[in-house]
Amino acid sequence: MLELMTGKVHDEQRQGESYKPLPGEEKAYKKKFYIESYGCQMNFSDSEIVASILNEQGFGATRNLEDADLIFLNTCSIREKAEQTVRKRLTEFRKIKKQKPGMLVGVLGCMAERLKTKLLEEEKLVDMVVGPDAYRSLPGLIEEAGDGHKAVNVLLSREETYSDISPIRLDSNGVTAFVSIMRGCNNMCSFCVVPFTRGRERSRDAGSIVAECTDLFERGFREVTLLGQNVDSYYWSDDSSGKAVTFAELLEKVALVSPLLRVRFSTSHPKDITDQVLYTMAKYPNICKYIHLPLQSGSTRILQLMNRTYTREWYMAKVKRIYEVMPDCGISSDIITGFCTEAEEDHLDTLDIMEKSGYDFSYMFIYSERPGTLAAKRYTDDVPEEVKKRRLQEIISLQNKLSLRSNLQDIGKSFEVLIEGDSRKSSEHWMGRNSRNKVVVFSKASFPMLQKGDYATVTVLDCTQGTLIGA
Ligand code: SAH
Ligand code: SF4
Ligand code: F3S
Repeated sequence: MLELMTGKVHDEQRQGESYKPLPGEEKAYKKKFYIESYGCQMNFSDSEIVASILNEQGFGATRNLEDADLIFLNTCSIREKAEQTVRKRLTEFRKIKKQKPGMLVGVLGCMAERLKTKLLEEEKLVDMVVGPDAYRSLPGLIEEAGDGHKAVNVLLSREETYSDISPIRLDSNGVTAFVSIMRGCNNMCSFCVVPFTRGRERSRDAGSIVAECTDLFERGFREVTLLGQNVDSYYWSDDSSGKAVTFAELLEKVALVSPLLRVRFSTSHPKDITDQVLYTMAKYPNICKYIHLPLQSGSTRILQLMNRTYTREWYMAKVKRIYEVMPDCGISSDIITGFCTEAEEDHLDTLDIMEKSGYDFSYMFIYSERPGTLAAKRYTDDVPEEVKKRRLQEIISLQNKLSLRSNLQDIGKSFEVLIEGDSRKSSEHWMGRNSRNKVVVFSKASFPMLQKGDYATVTVLDCTQGTLIGA
């Protein structure tokens, strides 16, 4: 499949990640669980909530599948391919379960929510099916499944935000962390399964978000990414004071935790990103100058079919506004190619708007029809597979060009880089990102005093399409 992206590891491609147990944890617990996460950052963040809930019940984490008494897959339904990956993984578990009959297998996340009890019929080895709003019921479900009953909870909630649960940071680099600020989505883009798997939008108590960020900072973390399907529609009202907190106000509160704590957020629906958000970003140096602003399509006709609620002109005006308020802001995008009825001129409109927006990078996908969505009900998935593939290839080639162009413009400039750890290729180099979310790799020898979690001012000498290379 040609689903590719540029510049970064796409979270939806971070398939099958498990995590390190916390020090001593393997020894301390009698029962062990293993969890693999698929899909978006929200799912990775939810797995940290699940780990916390299980930990409270006396379960310890393990990275070793064979050691586990409980295996969980936190799943994604966004495209057919995402579901196929999980199905394939489940078949691999059969062998392990045969050797260890008491072991329980649970499917969590969006596939659990979408398929519900059907999943139990289709995948016989599954013991538990648990939707994204039902993780608090896991201990009871584990007990039920342990007694030999299949256990299911796929109730969606209008309130659940897990706001009081302190996530166990899995596979953490100790520097950057995700903080969930809202759940669900009310947008109903016609291609998208998320409103069905994640339910209605609800925002988390602002005080608990700030407290979590403060705690992370005190434990040495230096960057938080505020997460939600649609962060700029964050809106939380404190019942006692009656005062509401908007996303811009929340950003400000988190930025004030410390000037040394970087703040990022993801994802923004273009329709909701306000001037107030842009001004707040511009005001605080520690709010990163980077916005993920998914376009989906550059054609107004297709955008209407997608129910995105903006036109191509409106989107371009938003991009212009971002650059007016923050000339150095990085913008990235999500693009779907081959949506129902997409003609060559629509595709050219997408290429045109990509060029005009000058994205630093994009996540690019072939349209995958999802059962139950508005598009599946109303429109025909009529663009031939070869055409979809060819258009995707053209979009990828253009994005590669734009990414390289953007990086070449940075040669000779200096950036403040937060050091996240060793570069993947060499332990003699640090890897970090600048405010604009570009990966910067540079020699440790040039900064002998610095450690992971420190800020370095790095001058860019060279670049590739995905990386800036510093001194
Ligand atoms: N809430 C986020 C998107 C979450 S899904 C937002 O609105 O920005 C991430 C991306 O997956 C979407 O932006 C879209 O580009 C892609 N996507 C969603 N449904 C899809 C489908 N049916 N086929 C292909 N790509 C899809
Ligand atoms: Fe899906 Fe649209 Fe909601 Fe994003 S905003 S999660 S694409 S429905
Ligand atoms: Fe996938 Fe669900 Fe996220 S469908 S992209 S895991 S919200």
